[in-house]
Amino acid sequence: MRSSPSRLPFPDKVRHIIPVNPHAYWKSRLPVVEKALDRLISPKAHPALIHKAMRYSLLAGGKRLRPILCLAAARAAGGSESLALPSACAVECIHTYSLIHDDLPCMDDDNFRRGRPTNHRVFGEAVAVLAGDGLLTEAFASVARTKPNRRFSPADLVKELAHASGSLGLIAGQILDLDSEKKRIPLKKLMEIHRAKTGALITTSLRLGAMSVGAKPEMIRHLTHFGQALGLAFQVIDDILDITSTKEKLGKSIGKDQSSGKATYPRLLGLNGARREADRLTAAARSALRPLGAPAAPLLAIADALLCRDH
Ligand code: IPE
Ligand code: IPE
Ligand code: MG
Ligand code: MG
Ligand code: MG
Repeated sequence: MRSSPSRLPFPDKVRHIIPVNPHAYWKSRLPVVEKALDRLISPKAHPALIHKAMRYSLLAGGKRLRPILCLAAARAAGGSESLALPSACAVECIHTYSLIHDDLPCMDDDNFRRGRPTNHRVFGEAVAVLAGDGLLTEAFASVARTKPNRRFSPADLVKELAHASGSLGLIAGQILDLDSEKKRIPLKKLMEIHRAKTGALITTSLRLGAMSVGAKPEMIRHLTHFGQALGLAFQVIDDILDITSTKEKLGKSIGKDQSSGKATYPRLLGLNGARREADRLTAAARSALRPLGAPAAPLLAIADALLCRDH
């Protein structure tokens, strides 16, 4: 199975006012991530079927936002990107597993993802469940390979990842999302869902990058605040794109939120209200980075550019 190239989430000419071009930065980090992911799960591993299914979704060309944030956080904290590679791979494995399961008929029931048929459409539901399980498990093997530093052991990072992806984080968000279908819920509850299903893993991607290089607690605190605002903004924009984008651009089906009666920001606030909220959250993300100065420039550039992403 050939892997697809990852596409950049925003155009080359995206406006930027800080001295990092987000497009160029993204382009420069993608090959590092792609190579590490390709190495993580060998195409020769047995049984062939499960590894083929895992690689089918993992190497299907996602944006790689979470691993790129992880590497950028390591740099922002003054450390070497390579120390954060085990975590970068781990968060992309968790993310990909969550997408495979999210697309299953018993969840969002989607046929198209990352520009190709969803995992269960190709391999069947049983294999897709197991491919997700395989990626989830591999994520912890990967993060456990982090080199210990003066502040954090690999076990600290394993705990961090477990907390964010478990039933108090991503899984909490997924269950609340399903439970809120076809219901009117208040904005506060919707915020809680989006923070958990999407914000938790994005925040942890940044925290793990910083922890991999032994960052100080205050650095991790700033990155956490950045991640919480950016993570929520990211899901608000995902909700908007489900209405305004196309299947070709997104690489996934559109209009599903409305047909499934999902609780979304545009449903509660209207499209313009949701856009304003994404702007406000991005501004909050930016100000969380202010104390970090120049090393945080790539993170700032990413936050700004994600506001005008088209997939
Ligand atoms: C999609 O995530 C699901 C959400 C949590 C919003 P991405 O938009 O990051 O998907 P890929 O990785 O680029 O496919
Ligand atoms: C998914 O949110 C969040 C996950 C944890 C996978 P969505 O259900 O809105 O993601 P898409 O739109 O299918 O990518
Ligand atoms: Mg979903
Ligand atoms: Mg979905
Ligand atoms: Mg969505």
